[in-house]
Amino acid sequence: MSIFSKTIIQVKAIILLASKAKHIMLYGGSRSGKTFIIVFAIIVRACKVKSRHVMLRGTFNSIKTSIWLDTMPKVLSIAFPKLIYHLNKTDYYLILPNGSEIWICGLDDDKRVEKILGKEFSTIFFNECSQLAYSSVQIALTRLAEKNSLKKKVYYDENPPSKKHWSYWVFIKKLCPIEIEPIEDPENYASMVMNPKDNMENIDEDYLKMLAKMPKKERDRFMNGLFGDDDDGAAYYSFDREVHVAETKRLPGTLFIGMDFNVMPMTAVVCQVINNAIHVHDEVYLENSDTYKMSDSLIKSRYVGTVIPDSTGKNRSTSGKSDFDILKGYGFKIPHVFNPAQTDRVNNVNRLLTENRLIINPKCKKLIADLEQVSWKDNKLDQKGANKMLTHISDALGYACWHLDKIGPKVKPIEIGRMR
Ligand SMILES: Nc1ncnc2c1ncn2[C@@H]1O[C@H](COP(=O)(O)OP(=O)(O)O)[C@@H](O)[C@H]1O
Ligand SMILES: [Mg+2]
Repeated sequence: MSIFSKTIIQVKAIILLASKAKHIMLYGGSRSGKTFIIVFAIIVRACKVKSRHVMLRGTFNSIKTSIWLDTMPKVLSIAFPKLIYHLNKTDYYLILPNGSEIWICGLDDDKRVEKILGKEFSTIFFNECSQLAYSSVQIALTRLAEKNSLKKKVYYDENPPSKKHWSYWVFIKKLCPIEIEPIEDPENYASMVMNPKDNMENIDEDYLKMLAKMPKKERDRFMNGLFGDDDDGAAYYSFDREVHVAETKRLPGTLFIGMDFNVMPMTAVVCQVINNAIHVHDEVYLENSDTYKMSDSLIKSRYVGTVIPDSTGKNRSTSGKSDFDILKGYGFKIPHVFNPAQTDRVNNVNRLLTENRLIINPKCKKLIADLEQVSWKDNKLDQKGANKMLTHISDALGYACWHLDKIGPKVKPIEIGRMR
């Protein structure tokens, strides 16, 4: 039987995981012992008090192969050799003698997500969170609500992605990736780096040699645990005028109007879901405008339907009434909306473009210019200097696309015309 001992860095990680912070991320190179020590900490918590815990990853298959079939059995046999447990192999959870449960879940399976997120948990672990949209994390966090004496905890691990990713904003910059403002309770967020060289007791030396031979970008990520300083470059790199610009035809059915509430300019895109693709029929681009003028302009063109706005417009008001109330006053429907993180929104548009599921009418000249010119600068969408008229209309498109077909679980019912 192997004797369990933690690496030096894992001892430090345990102290951090048990610290006052609620959200704790272990990030760094691969095979550093991050997942192992988090799974260990969760089992310790589960043994203390009858409680429920969940480990989530982008896809069910990946969490099944990595944690269910590999890390969890290893941790159980090495660190808890005497613990008697039962595995529920139909619903994929571990049951301990005190009745505690540890579930695994992939966010690609809507039914299972719905079932699992009907329960309440004491720990949520986002495994390889670089692969998750921030909105998926937000949805799952609403289930961190089990009543017992355990302090509720959220653990995250990842190989550090680009500095544009929400995990960098939240844990390193301590900025909310949606509002781009300081997070309210920075003391609740803590992180530490763990690298493969810290886990030499448990991995092969050849593995480190293999990492050392990788190209610099991969080496920085998988060996040195550094967040990527991607070159500033085209945000909508998947957009190709030759491929994505084509005549579209309005059909009967709901119009979805993506809207950005900037004043200079105020913008909207008019879309429809046809054959599992988003067709952008038209755009409205008004300089020096407001929500009243925007509504008048849409009504004049007979564009009536569901508006998918920037969700911050709910509380924003320029003239007493909020932007949402003004739109509702004109008869537009507004579903429940929640802005995604900026990178998630841009990634989602790129995904739809790659899948050839976004078609833009040639009359949307401003939108096309945006898709060709908006770039990342210092990990933000560039809207400075000569470009300050840019980014708004592609934001409007991004809000609509996110509502109609977003990355991550679709646990909330959405409107008619829904895709998938
Ligand atoms: N304390 C430990 N004792 C024994 N094996 C360990 C320990 N910590 C990590 N390992 C092993 O090291 C390898 C890498 O750990 P893992 O947690 O999967 O790394 P990461 O999540 O950082 O990629 C795995 O094979 C794991 O079982
Ligand atoms: Mg891991």
